[in-house]
Amino acid sequence: MNILTVENLTLTFGGLMAISDLSFSVAKGQVTSLIGPNGAGKTCVFNCITGFYRPTGGRILFGGENLVGRPPYQITERGICRTFQNIRLFNALTAVENVAAGQHTRTGCGLLRCLFRTGRSRRDERNVREKSFRWLEFVGLTDFYDYQARQLPYGDQRRLEIARALASEPKLLLLDEPAAGMNHNEQERLLALIREIVQLGITVVMIDHNMGMVMQISNHIVVLDYGRKIAEGPPETVRNDEQVINAYLGEDFDAAS
Ligand SMILES: Nc1ncnc2c1ncn2[C@@H]1O[C@H](COP(=O)(O)OP(=O)(O)OP(=O)(O)O)[C@@H](O)[C@H]1O
Ligand SMILES: [Mg+2]
Repeated sequence: MNILTVENLTLTFGGLMAISDLSFSVAKGQVTSLIGPNGAGKTCVFNCITGFYRPTGGRILFGGENLVGRPPYQITERGICRTFQNIRLFNALTAVENVAAGQHTRTGCGLLRCLFRTGRSRRDERNVREKSFRWLEFVGLTDFYDYQARQLPYGDQRRLEIARALASEPKLLLLDEPAAGMNHNEQERLLALIREIVQLGITVVMIDHNMGMVMQISNHIVVLDYGRKIAEGPPETVRNDEQVINAYLGEDFDAAS
């Protein structure tokens, strides 16, 4: 069963075709990876799915509904959340506060109610804090709960971003280069974390340049080059695809996998 279907997606910027007639589906409960050389259009696909960019054409179907035209907050409410290629944490807030911020779509704790601190908002706050600690524990950051985001090492910031995204209780989690800047040990931890996320019943779509990781974790891989899909399938099919190998010439695709 598919949780998300992208149909004939096109995105242009002036004369540049960032995404060209792209169609693919994401199977529920699996890990799908989106790979391709720099500038292939991968992040643009995430930006279209999450409502940050409005596609020039095509449809994005989720839960029987076309998401195109919906603003990002409505897409989060429907159960899609993401992390960013360039980490976007609240740097001056602590780790636990960052995770709490991810929950606001679920608590419905409006600004006025929080300001006047009604009984309900105090209860909500306690609830949010408890849940935030649980997500911090889930990603292995409990010991750093009161560190400002900016004080954390890079790899921990990436995991904190994942915790914040999980706090919105997504059905579908989009990870944009979650392993970037991580050393080998951190990458291994990340793989284990992604497996645990899938065990929670959350579907994952991941963009990454680390072929070793992508090949290990993915059930299905979609390959983009210049905004077009050039291949898709299980890791073993994609690894041996001639067009994929050609697209990666100069990027040492074989060595990386
Ligand atoms: N807001 C924008 N305005 C104009 N061009 C853009 C914009 N966003 C992306 N692009 C262009 O669209 C193309 C695809 O960009 P995208 O960021 O999706 O690539 P990517 O596959 O994620 O690459 P990378 O692996 O380097 O992150 C690039 O040529 C990029 O310069
Ligand atoms: Mg990108």
